[in-house]
Amino acid sequence: MTTPRPETLAKLTPVLTKRWLSPDAWRLGTYEKLDGYAALRKALKAHPDDLIQLIKDSGLRGRGGAGFPTGLKWGFIPQGDGKPHYLVVNADEGEPGTCKDLPLMTHDPHALVEGVIIASYAIRASRAYIYIRGEAVHAARRLRSAVDEAYAKGYLGRNVLGSGFDLDLVVHSGAGAYICGEETALLDSLEGFRGQPRLRPPFPATHGLYASPTVVNNVGTIASVPHIVLGGADWWKTMGTEKSSGPMIYSLSGRIAFPGQYEASMGITLRELIELAGGMKPGHELKFWTPGGSSTPLLTAEHLDVPLDFEGVAAAGSILGTTATQIFSDQDCPVYATYRWLEFYHHESCGKCTPCREGNYWMVRVYRRILAGQGTHEDLDTLLDTCDNILGRSFCGLGDGATSSVTSSLKYFKQDYLDYIEGRTAPKLSDKQLVGA
Ligand code: NAI
Ligand code: SF4
Repeated sequence: MTTPRPETLAKLTPVLTKRWLSPDAWRLGTYEKLDGYAALRKALKAHPDDLIQLIKDSGLRGRGGAGFPTGLKWGFIPQGDGKPHYLVVNADEGEPGTCKDLPLMTHDPHALVEGVIIASYAIRASRAYIYIRGEAVHAARRLRSAVDEAYAKGYLGRNVLGSGFDLDLVVHSGAGAYICGEETALLDSLEGFRGQPRLRPPFPATHGLYASPTVVNNVGTIASVPHIVLGGADWWKTMGTEKSSGPMIYSLSGRIAFPGQYEASMGITLRELIELAGGMKPGHELKFWTPGGSSTPLLTAEHLDVPLDFEGVAAAGSILGTTATQIFSDQDCPVYATYRWLEFYHHESCGKCTPCREGNYWMVRVYRRILAGQGTHEDLDTLLDTCDNILGRSFCGLGDGATSSVTSSLKYFKQDYLDYIEGRTAPKLSDKQLVGA
């Protein structure tokens, strides 16, 4: 195990995480002492269109996984249409390995609340929602208490800080379904329906909550907004790369010395992040990793120097996603890891479309057969063929995401599959575990 070197620590760029370790960081008093709500006061003096332009100029891209330009999305909201506009924060973080939004909401809930108020003012919304994952009870409590404090201090409600702008903010807890993190399923759930994806287009920007123009943004995206308002677009762009600006919270988990949240400029490499995290656990050597959660294709030790920004990871054949870097070693089995992720997708598939509902069901069964030492060489073709029938043919991204670890583990670790099939690796599952998928 190595300890982080000072020059490596200098690579951290604490912006969204900078208040997390302050005592009582979640309370309004602490937040205000640390520049809290200064950005809101500044924003309310600006024209809403200028705020949208500022976010466009900063190059901020969505932190939920897709990296869509935030200012562009805000600019899609039609003005003067006579319809109500909504801001909905997607706090339904549920991707396996992903855990950057939860600490943000727990440690610094006012940063999100302040971002919501500024974003709502910019898109002319008078009602906003934070849709938070049902299991995140503690974070929801912290958020609700921050919202109450903000109402009491005049940051929310009628005539915010005497500006003439009205905003109500509701924290809504979901019921723990992964699919409700898909933005249109989230909107259905918020409206009181069963959470299942809607056809896109039309996108929520024009037909969102209650068929009205709606911006749906991730927690990290909205929490970045006050920093950009205070620091300016040029300052934001001093971090990150040309097309992926700003800092990013990388969530490191798995076989490393100090798992946790590491906020660094976009474009940092996994080699540097592992060094920041004190190196690999003693006795472990990196074998494979996810750059951004289980829906992103696996990478290997060959990719240690890939810049972790949207373009760099795409060029390496994967997706930056939620920057949940899950690190596996030579003591972990890529076949078993993929099986566990597939069980998750199978369980969470909403069942609306056949490729995802049936494909994941059958792939789980094939994996069980292989892991029980009863697989055949044809099973590997069946897996690739099934992925081919899911990818691009599913109704939403969940189906596509489920195929990522299957195709990438077969690409890089086919030998591990063959070792089960040809009897060189002892079965991991018993005959009893073959049934019941
Ligand atoms: P997407 O690329 O289809 O859309 C991204 C955003 O841009 C959406 O808000 C969409 O409404 C908007 N958009 C795209 N094209 C538009 C247009 N022409 N007009 C107006 N708005 C437009 O990506 P999607 O399917 O929303 O999200 C996929 C990502 O979610 C994946 O990359 C994955 O990494 C991530 N993800 C995150 C999870 C989490 O727990 N944070 C869970 C699962 C997936
Ligand atoms: Fe539902 Fe899966 Fe189809 Fe998405 S891809 S709509 S989760 S069945």
